[in-house]
Amino acid sequence: MSAQLDNLPQYRSMTVEDLDCVMAIENEVYTQPWTRGNFCDSLAAGYHCRIMELAGEIAGYSVLAAGAGEAHLLNLSIAAQWQRRGLGRELLKFMIDLAREVPAHKIYLEVRPSNLAGRRLYAAAGFAEVATRRGYYPGQGGSEDALVMELELK
Ligand SMILES: CC(C)(COP(=O)(O)OP(=O)(O)OC[C@H]1O[C@@H](n2cnc3c(N)ncnc32)[C@H](O)[C@@H]1OP(=O)(O)O)[C@@H](O)C(=O)NCCC(=O)NCCS
Repeated sequence: MSAQLDNLPQYRSMTVEDLDCVMAIENEVYTQPWTRGNFCDSLAAGYHCRIMELAGEIAGYSVLAAGAGEAHLLNLSIAAQWQRRGLGRELLKFMIDLAREVPAHKIYLEVRPSNLAGRRLYAAAGFAEVATRRGYYPGQGGSEDALVMELELK
């Protein structure tokens, strides 16, 4: 029983003490990772920065900015070793529920067109692709557009 409970994801607020671990994951899973400064700014701004732990280990994290009835999902990441076990879906569901509690009536996010895992994850949760932002992501081989996805919260 307790072994089973130990393996359920636990959620808590992110703190600056988490940033060494968060940055290790961030650098592992993105080709264009956020900087430590991006996370510090998000914490300082009071964004909803959450950690997902599994068996006492940070398995993922997410950052949501919310205001004026709208939320913007700025980051959602699962450590490489924990991917493809349904945790991204769980973390996304947790952040959607959080946005509802804020309350927000809509969530926006940007995703690279080349990020099929992200696009499928978001589409499966009900997000619709509503716009393209040209040249949104800087890159070594030139910039990449972003798809804007939106979820209406009922
Ligand atoms: C995107 C990400 C969060 C998915 O997390 P995950 O825990 O591996 O995803 P899950 O196991 O919960 O899978 C949920 C759904 O996402 C999609 N998916 C996840 N990984 C995928 C992959 N490698 N290829 C294709 N689809 C994938 C599938 O639709 C999957 O549903 P299925 O298992 O029924 O096919 C994870 O790959 C990640 O952290 N990637 C790097 C960071 C990133 O790109 N974040 C999103 C930026 S906007």
